[in-house]
Parts: sequence; structure tokens; C-alpha cells
Amino acid sequence: MFKQVCVIGLGLIGASFAQAIKDNGLSERLVAVDRHTPSITEAVEHGLLDAGSACLQDVIDGSDLIIIAVPVQAVQAVFIDIKQAMDQGQIDADCILTDVCSTKVNIIEAAKAVFGALPLGLVPAHPIAGAENSGYHARRANLFVNHSVIVCELPSTSSTAVAKLRLLWESMGANVMSMAADHHDRILAHTSHLPHLLAFNLVEQLASHDDNLDMFRYAAGGFRDFTRIAASDPKMWHDIFFANQRAIVSALDEYGAYLQTMRQLIIDQDSTALMGLLGRAQAARRHFGHMLASTPYTDTSAMSASYNITPSNTVSGTIAIPGDKSISHRSIMLGSLATGVTHVTGFLEGEDALATLQAFRDMGVTIEGPDNGNLTIHGVGMNGLKPSKTPLYMGNSGTSMRLLSGILAAQSFDSVLTGDTSLNKRPMERVAAPLRSMGAVIQSTGHSGTAPLSITGRDTVGKPLQGTEYDMPVASAQVKSCLLLAGLWAEGTTTVTQPEVSRDHTERMLSAFGYPVTVEGNRISVTGGGSLQGGDIAVPADISSAAFFMVAAAISQNSELTLTQVGINPTRTGVIDILKLMNADISLSNETHVGGEPVADITIRSSKLVGIEIPEHLVPLAIDEFPVLFVAASCAKGRTVLTGAKELRVKESDRIAVMAEGLQTLGIDCTVTDDGLIIEGKGVASESGDVNNSQPVFGGGHIVSHHDHRIAMSFSIASLRASEQITIEGTETVNTSFPGFAELANQIGMSIDVDTGAE
Ligand code: S3P
Repeated sequence: MFKQVCVIGLGLIGASFAQAIKDNGLSERLVAVDRHTPSITEAVEHGLLDAGSACLQDVIDGSDLIIIAVPVQAVQAVFIDIKQAMDQGQIDADCILTDVCSTKVNIIEAAKAVFGALPLGLVPAHPIAGAENSGYHARRANLFVNHSVIVCELPSTSSTAVAKLRLLWESMGANVMSMAADHHDRILAHTSHLPHLLAFNLVEQLASHDDNLDMFRYAAGGFRDFTRIAASDPKMWHDIFFANQRAIVSALDEYGAYLQTMRQLIIDQDSTALMGLLGRAQAARRHFGHMLASTPYTDTSAMSASYNITPSNTVSGTIAIPGDKSISHRSIMLGSLATGVTHVTGFLEGEDALATLQAFRDMGVTIEGPDNGNLTIHGVGMNGLKPSKTPLYMGNSGTSMRLLSGILAAQSFDSVLTGDTSLNKRPMERVAAPLRSMGAVIQSTGHSGTAPLSITGRDTVGKPLQGTEYDMPVASAQVKSCLLLAGLWAEGTTTVTQPEVSRDHTERMLSAFGYPVTVEGNRISVTGGGSLQGGDIAVPADISSAAFFMVAAAISQNSELTLTQVGINPTRTGVIDILKLMNADISLSNETHVGGEPVADITIRSSKLVGIEIPEHLVPLAIDEFPVLFVAASCAKGRTVLTGAKELRVKESDRIAVMAEGLQTLGIDCTVTDDGLIIEGKGVASESGDVNNSQPVFGGGHIVSHHDHRIAMSFSIASLRASEQITIEGTETVNTSFPGFAELANQIGMSIDVDTGAE
């Protein structure tokens, strides 16, 4: 790739870079410069370097890449040496010149001071990598693998130089991204330089107390964790603080203002505000990895998980399934907009509902918890939301994004909604277009009507939303809910007509919070201007999550499972109806009501399933359960035909294509149609007429979840009728709707080994 790479500075980063060049065969020759001659001698003796010296002029001849890995303050002196080498013709004028320093603006200024016009090959860069130990001996060729490298392209830089440098870092396993130098310095001032400064400062503060011995003797884990980074090299930090002076001082000023706010809250004993601040911070810290997933800093390899599942054939027990996802989302939304306090029990602590929770915290709502499914929401009233300082991050959750679009379109302030890669590909025009007909100003900024969504506040638009009559082309509870929620602030009445029944949790919860909702068949209306009154919400167990275990018991041998207090809202029970049509042995008991929603214990036993033509009117009532119903159909005797289910193609994945791909991998004969799937079930009838579920119908194999939680869980259930191990990749998404799924599955007799990829 290069003729000769010259590394200047053989500390941890420089030496690791050299080792990665050597191990990956990225240059014909490798030379280095370091004033510390023992490192150079050792590196030459080890065969890492072809040549090395304390003096740049000795080794630089013919280099086509020079990388500067010395402390920031020493860079200008190195530039002077390099300019001399250029002037003397030792290196070409287009030689690539880069660095690894953690500040960028001052590097560019130093180059200007030395070179006058910036060299063509100058590409400042910063690998965000490091290790506890420093120096030549701590080097690691894999130091940059899966780490970010920020490249600052300058207007003066040749595009060939940028492309070659990017390729080099990528060849070392790094994730390369571009950023303007001043933006880089601002970000690093907040995320790295400020924390180091604070750590040094706190240790200094404690050390200068008269009773410092006692202070340190009794300092606990908090002190140790917070100040770990104050053990790093003072000279290096001294240099960085000066090198990035402007950005650090501004980060420090902002920090000072936050500190003063907190100080005042403590003085004023403002419990709600302090709790709000601490809760917001805790939640942000917890979901930090996910929030960052849409920005380039995250090491995504740390977030992937897979299941290795050993086949088993029997499940039994009585289990509680986590709370309903749809109702959990709505409890946060309406609880936040209500007057007074709302207590929620049974809240689903899955990523999707937590994304909604975080969004409302970002808009200034104080929410205590979640603690074992318990939440206390201090409602701010219909006009109490505040603009979020950052884009609202919805993670993988379509429900959060679509319902929030309705709420935000009606607020006085502007908002931006974004999500993970999967959510940012899903259709948002289905909510944006009808919202526009109410006067909303909403822009889908992604390709083809997708998120990020930019919503303009009513203060800018100058008038409130207007009520509308909307005929929904598809039966979507999310679109219906979005419009009804927007309608709460609209002038006049908003009426939504749905082509088929879809889940009605929004309507039920609005009524429970005292907001009048008119339902006439498939026409649902609200009139703007009312208010919501907070109260208690008990979230029932999620029938969509229960469905995995219903199918588990039905397709396996000698099995019986009872799932306690599952929500059986008639707009959600399509899965029970379909399984019953397939001859499943299901019964309901202990039927009662919890917080305006019907619930029951569901018992399901090993069943002689038969293939059916699924009635189309049941499709919206079982919309999330089809992936696992396809597994049931594969185990049934005869053919199952699904039609009228095009919507499945725009869920977290294209669930028709992705399920067909996985089923075929496991040896099932199925045919994809435009709006459904035809599955040739492999179930057999036993001669005695007894249930005969002991024969495998699936082979083993490797399944990819395509970022879809329900795909991952459905194929886990298939292992109950598999002949060999099933491996499922991408199971970290299961947490979006069903935290604890694998543990619960193992509790009833399955054998899922969760591999989080952690070393
Ligand atoms: C949901 C509605 C359904 C469903 C989703 C949750 C809701 O989506 O698939 O998981 O909470 O309103 P559609 O309304 O798009 O069908």
C-alpha cells in the first residue's frame, strides 16, 4: 500500500500503529524516529522497523506516509524538521502527513505557521483508542480494531491522500469518520478533556484538605471510579489543556452553570426538580450506548449478542410474561401530559418503552423509576412539555416515533425525532402526510419519507392544528393513535376511520384519563382542548410476548404452560383465534379487568396443529404474532396460507421475506407472495390419534435476525422441533420488547446459551 511509512514517536499509539502496519503488511518499509533511543534499538532488533533514529533526517528519505505520534506541544518542532526534509528533496511534496493528536485546530495552526500554505498531503487525524499502560512495550497491533478514527479533511488536502489514509486505518480494523477540526475539538473537550480535568481537580481538592489522610482512607468506590483517570500522564494533560484551550474553557463554563443549578436545587430543597435532573442523568447514562448508536462513536461490536440453542422438546410451568409494550408506551405519554401524578405498575422495562420514557424526560418531565416495573410520573399538563436540547432518540421503536410525531406536531416548539438504522428506514409518511392535512409542518429528512423527522413548532407556524377527517388506507393503530393524540390540541374534532379494527389502547387510556373519545364502529373521534387527569395504570402482560410461549407449548411434546394475567383486549387476541383455528389446545381462566383492560391466565398444551387459511380480518388483530405463527404453521399438518398481510413487510424487518429465508434455512418449504406466505407444514398425524410432536420438523442452522426482536425469538421457539443446534445472530434486539426472554425460556425447559461476545 505504501513504499515507506515513517512513524514519529514510538509511544503506545505510534508503536501500536507501527506494529499494525507490520502485521498487516501495509508498507514495503517501516522506519521510525524517537528521541528515546532504547525503543528504537529494540524495535530494529525485533525486526519491527527497517531503520530508526533519534534524528528525522537520517531515516525519512523516500517516505510516502509520515505519521506524527508525539505530544501535541511537540508537533510544531516536528513540522519544522519535515519542512526541511521537503525543501531538501528527501520527501515528495505530496507525501501524506498525518498525526494522532487529540486536538486538531492547533495542529492545523502549527502547520500553517511552519509551511505557510498547507501541504497537499496534510490530513490531521485522531484515533480514539488508548490503554491503561503507555510506552513502546504496551503496543498492540489490534489497538485500533473497532475503534473510531476521526479524519479532518482540509480544503487544501488532496482527495487521494484522504482516501489512502482512510483505507490504511480501515485495513487496521478501525471505523473511520470525517469531522471538521473545530467540531472535533469541541466534542473532545466535553467527552474527554473535561472529565479528565474534573478528575484531577477532585483529587487535588481532597488532597489539599488538612485531614486529607482521613479523606483518602474513607474515600469509597465512588471516589475511586470517578478519579481513575487522574492517574494518567500530567504532562500530556497539561499540554492538551493548553492546546484545546478555547473549547475546554467553554465546556468548563457550561459545567459551572450546571453545577450552580444543582447547588440551588439543593439549597431550595426542590425535590421534584432535583429528582427530575438525577433521573434524567441516570437514564441517559444507562442508555448511553444506545443513544450513541446513531452516532459514530460507539463500539457496536460490544452490543451484539447471539443465541446458541440446543434442541429440547418439552416445556412446562407457570410463568409471568413482562408488561405490554403498547400500553407501556401510552402510560408514559398520557401520564406526562396529565395533570397530577400517575403511578404505573407492570411497566415493560424494554428498550422500546424506555426510549419513550427517555424522550419525555428529555422534554422536562420528572419520572421516577422504573423500579421493578413501577414508575411515578409527575405530569406537566397539556402545555407543560419543554423542547429537548437534543434530537429525541427513539431507538428501534416505531410506536414511539409515530405516536410522538402526533404529540410534537401540536407543541409550541420545534423537535427532531431520530432512531436506529432499522427505524430510520421505516415509512413515516403514513403519519406525516395526515398530520400535514391538520396543518402540521413536518419534514421527513431521510430518503423516501423516512426519519429523522423535523417538526416545526406552532409558535413558528402561527396557528394551532386543525381537526380533520381521515380515512386510513391501512388498519394501523400507530397512525390512528398519532392522529388522535394530535387531535387533543387541534381546533375542532379529529375523526379517524379505520378499514379494520386495530388495537384500541389509546382510546381506552384516553377515556381512563378522563378525555372524552367517541367510538362509532370504525370511526373514532376526539375534540381538541380537553385535559387529562393522572391516575394509576396497571399494565397487563403482553400477549405479543406470550405468543412465543403459546406456540412453544403447542408444538412440543408432553407440554403444558400457564401464562398468568395476560392482556386479552379483543383487538389483540387474533393469535388465540388463529391458534384455535389450527386446533391448538388453549383455555382461558381467571378472567378479570386490570386498569381498563381485560386479562386472563392462558393455559396451552401440546397440540395436534393443522394448517389453515388465515382469515384476513384477523390479520390486524395478530399483526405482531405472525413470525411465531409461521413457526407453528411449519409444525402443523398441511398447508397454511396467509394473505392480506402486506404490512408485515414494513415492520422492524420485512417479516415475510426474513421469516421465509430463515424457515428455508431450517428446511421448511414455503412460498413468499406479495402480501403473505404459504407454508407447507411438516406435522404428522399419529396412528393412535394422540399428539405426536416428538419428531423434528426443522433442521439446525444459522439464522440472522435482521435487527428484529420477534424474528430472533420466533426462531428460538423453532428449536423445540429442531434436529440440531440453531444459532441466532443479532439477539441483542430481543431487549426491545422482551428483556429476560432467554432466562424465562430456559426456566420452562428450553436450552438457550446467550453469547454476548464479551471476552
Ligand atoms: C402498535 C401497533 C402496531 C404493532 C406495533 C405496536 C402500537 O403497528 O405492530 O408493534 O402500539 O400501536 P401498526 O399500527 O403499524 O400496525
